Amino acid sequence: MQTHEIRERFTQHFVKAGHTAVPSASLILEDPDLLFVNAGMVPFKPYFLGQQNPPYPNGTATSIQKCVRTLDIDEVGITTRHNTFFQMAGNFSFGQYFKEGAITHAWELLTSSIEDGGYGLDPERLWATVYLDDDEAAEIWEKKIGLPAERIQRLGMADNYWHMGVPGPCGPCSEIYYDRGPEHGQEGGPAVDDTRYLEIWNLVFMEKERGQSTGPDSFEILGDLPKKNIDTGMGVERVAALLQGVDNVYETDLLRPVIDAAQEITGAEYGTDDTADVRFRVIADHSRTGMMLILDGVTPANEGRGYILRRLLRRIVRSARLLGATGETLEQFMTVIMDTMTPSYPEIADNRERITRVAVAEERAFLRTLESGTHRFDEAATKTRGTGAKVFSGEEAFTLHDTYGFPIDLTLEMAAEAGLEVDVAGFEAAMSEQRARAKADNLAKKHGHADESVYREWVDNNPTEFVGFSELTADAKILGLVADGVSVTHAAAGDEIEVILDVSPMYAESGGQLGDRGRLVTDGTILDVTDVQKIGKRLWVHKATVVSGGLDLGQSVRAEVDADWRHGATQAHTATHLIHAALRQVLGPTAVQAGSLNRPGYLRFDFNYTEQLSPAQLEEIALITNQAVDSNLAVNTIETSLDEAKKMGAMALFGENYGDDVRVVEIGGPFSIELCGGTHVDSSAQIGPVAVLGESSVGSGARRIEAYSGMDSFKYLSKETALATGLAASLKAPTEELPDRVAQLTEKLRAAEKEIANLHRQQLAAQTGALVEQATEVGKFTVLTHRLPDGVSGGDLRTVATDLRGRLAGRPGVVVLASAEGEKLPFIVGATKEAVELGVKSGELVKLLSGYVDGRGGGKPDMAQGSGSKPAGLDAGFHALREELAGR
Ligand code: ALA
Repeated sequence: MQTHEIRERFTQHFVKAGHTAVPSASLILEDPDLLFVNAGMVPFKPYFLGQQNPPYPNGTATSIQKCVRTLDIDEVGITTRHNTFFQMAGNFSFGQYFKEGAITHAWELLTSSIEDGGYGLDPERLWATVYLDDDEAAEIWEKKIGLPAERIQRLGMADNYWHMGVPGPCGPCSEIYYDRGPEHGQEGGPAVDDTRYLEIWNLVFMEKERGQSTGPDSFEILGDLPKKNIDTGMGVERVAALLQGVDNVYETDLLRPVIDAAQEITGAEYGTDDTADVRFRVIADHSRTGMMLILDGVTPANEGRGYILRRLLRRIVRSARLLGATGETLEQFMTVIMDTMTPSYPEIADNRERITRVAVAEERAFLRTLESGTHRFDEAATKTRGTGAKVFSGEEAFTLHDTYGFPIDLTLEMAAEAGLEVDVAGFEAAMSEQRARAKADNLAKKHGHADESVYREWVDNNPTEFVGFSELTADAKILGLVADGVSVTHAAAGDEIEVILDVSPMYAESGGQLGDRGRLVTDGTILDVTDVQKIGKRLWVHKATVVSGGLDLGQSVRAEVDADWRHGATQAHTATHLIHAALRQVLGPTAVQAGSLNRPGYLRFDFNYTEQLSPAQLEEIALITNQAVDSNLAVNTIETSLDEAKKMGAMALFGENYGDDVRVVEIGGPFSIELCGGTHVDSSAQIGPVAVLGESSVGSGARRIEAYSGMDSFKYLSKETALATGLAASLKAPTEELPDRVAQLTEKLRAAEKEIANLHRQQLAAQTGALVEQATEVGKFTVLTHRLPDGVSGGDLRTVATDLRGRLAGRPGVVVLASAEGEKLPFIVGATKEAVELGVKSGELVKLLSGYVDGRGGGKPDMAQGSGSKPAGLDAGFHALREELAGR
């Protein structure tokens, strides 16, 4: 049975039982605790916690959620059970059915015949585990389902108590296992062997809320959830392996084709060598995860989600190389995995070109550093071996990782080939130092300090109501005060403080738009708000300085947005939407947004595109944008469901959760439709002119457009105009003739410089006759040491020296000339044939002189040149050179 059908049957089974089918959420949800969605229940968290009411008629839902778990990337492929991407099919009950319902639903689907819409698994092969003291679940399995007692096992916390790994809903669980038969391992059930007994479904009886960890495997239980809920997760890939009668997930219809492609590209064979097999599986697993991440808008980067993607893609490239590939491979792998995944994820079809482009750009970037990194590795390895050491430095391994994008295991492997070990501890130390730095930087940027746990006491309640779309002031109550990462009750004049309010008109930074500036005021107290950040969905943190007075927890304040700031940021944000729309008109739909920034008067917009834009393309984008301004297009915001928004054609990539209503911002009907939570002008003419500054590259596969908006455009344009007018005045030419005039002037200047150089040379030549008179007798030699005026080029120095040497011909003559050029001091030594016969070597004399002027150089016995960096030493050098010749 194809994976796609397994998915269909799951959904149908639960829809028939009254569940609302909910599409998969994006892999990227706004959750401060999670890098990626890692379980089917994540998007439903607010319903489990009782923060929101589930919007499903029967209080039940079913989904097949995309999940990514990347904790142990290094382990991928070593076992055949784990994938970094997988699909979790689940059914959810929010206070409706509980243990009996969950167990019965799962059992029916697994064991019903294929004809009846089930999976037709043999009930005799199924086992169940329950949590130690969960007699209720054990009894349902035995009495209601009829599972023999010996196939029900009881396991502890680690196996049968499910939680998210971070604070959130949790509870005991019951897992269903399938016995693959004696050829896969020993008897004894899942408690004994989890390879033979394959876990296929986890039923979580969600009834508690966990808090922070109290140890590696322990955490505090905060209390009961408001209701008893069900969260289940069936591993679609694992069930596919069983139903397709194959050994493991890598053999299923989704992944095996990638392995086949890898065999073809690399010439290696799967199934003949354990090390090679791991590489094949890495390629298959990472190709899929990489593709799905790019689909959801992640682009390769050096931190966060982008770093995970980079690491995955680079591991594919490296694995393919080690298997024997010589050229680029990602385009083929992406093509194959997109083909296998499209039936379940039709949206891939619209994104094929973009996905390929991002992956291939990353491959090219890596292939470039792969070579220079290999070179650097070779040098370092040779040096290490040269000193007789056996250990390759951890710092060096870190540089290879950090600068050249070498995963540590690549360095390990190369070191082994070179007969070296790697100081892994040193590498780890450098890594964790960097990680700590990055983490601190990140958090410091967002919250001013590194520890987020202080916000826990508020974040889950989503306490702040944002009223800033319609209001610029609001009366609010102070719910929390945080100073230096610690919750406090009072702030005094001069303090820097974070203020949490129940209502706020201030926009919190998101979607690229910076947080508002403004003031918090109450009797005699004024706070200057310098930034507003949001944590989770609805916790507003106002970073502020107490200008005067003091402030207590629980007090009321009036929050006032700085209207000028807001106006400017709003103009910039709407301008960004116009530029985005214009960009897609000019470059086509594959130019997808990768990030943006809007602050008063300025915007930048990053997008995935591998080529530099031409001046004509840039001009067209600017033209379309300003035409849209000029047309005074109406800007409408519409609150609707994600589905509806997509139907409207809204561009949406990250972070949308189907549970929520989304906000669509529409400018001029179809001109621009985007999902956006930012603030916008009412109609496009309010933006004022948009001055596009230019475009540049921002790393692999992404480019950036920068522009001014509103009055800042005007200021920029008028500055440019003043510049041109000023130039025109001083050149006495109309502005439109400036380019020609500047070209003419440049040409004239070049000719004049040439002329001057010629004259200079003639003058020098005229002087050489007089110069030769200054030569003096030094021992056996006639020697001329002379510093010419500054600025004689190295070439002219040689001409003059050759001339002078000619004039000394017939005698043992030595000519030494120098001329400073800024900080540099080029110099030259020439010797006549006779001097050379007496043993003079110009090169040696250059070396001698070099010692006095901090220089270097060399050449032949009759002529040698050098360059110094300390002109002040020249006289002493001349003196020493004469002494040296006198002694011969
Ligand atoms: N949330 C449960 C899991 O991830 C179903 O296993």
